[in-house]
Amino acid sequence: MRLWGGRFGARGGAAEAEDPARAPASDPLAAAYSRSLDVDRELAADDIAGSIAHVHALERARLLVPDEAALLVDGLEALADDIAAGRLSWDPDLEDVHLNLEAALTERVGPVAGRLHTGRSRNDQVALDLRLWLRRAVERVDAAIVELERALVTRAQTDGEAIMPGTTHWQPAQPVLFAHHLLAHVEMLERDRGRFADAWRRADRSPLGAGALAGAGFDLDRAAAAAELGLAGVTANSIDAVSDRDFVVETIAAAALTMSHLSRLAEELTVWSHPAFGWVALAEAWSTGSSMMPNKRNPDPCELVRARAARVSGNLSAMLGLLKGLPLGYQRDLQEDKALLFDSLATLEASLAVMAGVIGTLEVRSKRMRAAALQGWTTATALADALVELGVAFRAAHGIVGGLVAEAERRESRLDELPDAVLSAALAGADDAVAGALAARIAEGLGERLRAAATLEAALARPVVTGGTAPVRVREALAAAAGRLGVAGAL
Ligand code: ARG
Repeated sequence: MRLWGGRFGARGGAAEAEDPARAPASDPLAAAYSRSLDVDRELAADDIAGSIAHVHALERARLLVPDEAALLVDGLEALADDIAAGRLSWDPDLEDVHLNLEAALTERVGPVAGRLHTGRSRNDQVALDLRLWLRRAVERVDAAIVELERALVTRAQTDGEAIMPGTTHWQPAQPVLFAHHLLAHVEMLERDRGRFADAWRRADRSPLGAGALAGAGFDLDRAAAAAELGLAGVTANSIDAVSDRDFVVETIAAAALTMSHLSRLAEELTVWSHPAFGWVALAEAWSTGSSMMPNKRNPDPCELVRARAARVSGNLSAMLGLLKGLPLGYQRDLQEDKALLFDSLATLEASLAVMAGVIGTLEVRSKRMRAAALQGWTTATALADALVELGVAFRAAHGIVGGLVAEAERRESRLDELPDAVLSAALAGADDAVAGALAARIAEGLGERLRAAATLEAALARPVVTGGTAPVRVREALAAAAGRLGVAGAL
């Protein structure tokens, strides 16, 4: 019997009304199309927790006598045990998790189960279940983000002294510490944690008592039920309570952005592990071979993280599309939120664990990284800055060093290898009085000083600003991150 089927089939006359079994069933295709059981079974534990809180609210409102309440709570707890042990037999004809659990409860405790749905609708019920589910999921996601951050920090402590050419426009730009780059990813992940926490802060309200849309017809103590469920308060408007899925959008948005961050890291690893770079090697356990080419070592897990980021951002787009045309009140469209939310968070959780595994086992080839940093005249900015320190205007210094880069390219040398004659000619030829005066001092040791300023180590040490890549700053940042995340050790 369909729990919502009271009016169905009654039109045909007394015989059908008296015998609901003779009422026409849903078209099998309509029933199959509407069914959500396969997806929302995931909510079973939360549905039961919400029902127990509702029983207590009904008891406090004297809509249940203590014996009835006790019978219902015992029955619900027994159901929870059955579900945890995989003993509950789910009935696909019963549409969704809520109707399955109500039917199973009836079977277990008898007619008193018919009192459970007093003052409640599946509309406030599912809105509550989803929030309770979200609380657990967000806790798991947060722990998984922290694990990846720890892996990045540990990698930074182990291999962070390596120097890599930081890029802009994907061209060699300036040398940075590998630890500095890894900590950039930690920053991104910390913001992600903040976004999940923020989304949950707004979701942390109980919609129970909103009923179908107008509010329950009994003066239930909603705040007490919310407190029992560990929620921070109650929703303020019953219509909003059953229509609102903002928290689903916000959470999927946080998941989509976190996946984008993982995807950027995954993309970097695929490039860095290409033999042309050879900056890192992915552990064999996190790589795959080819069925045809014996030489291959492919970064498949990273590639799949990249692809799954697309799927989660698709989920966000689907969820926004689902909501945008919906009038207020519950609409069945809302049922489709769950597949999108569950998939987004399951994908994210798995991807975080995969990236932690990849980073935790990464082999860093610091010699290759350093060799790459020595190419592309990445110390040019540091050399220009050194000229500024000697009084040259920055624009003039930029021009002088640009000329030196061109000369170094002709000579196939680095900037810190240019001879005095080249340095003094560049200074003398500049349209800057200070530079002209400096040209005369090149032979008196200034040439040596400028070459020293153009080495990798000197260039790396220059950005001592807060947040810069100078080793002194990176050591502080790494110690702070390690302290916050409870990771022992230092760079
Ligand atoms: N399975 C439904 C969902 O997930 C539960 C709420 C159904 N409410 C209703 N009025 N049909 O959205």
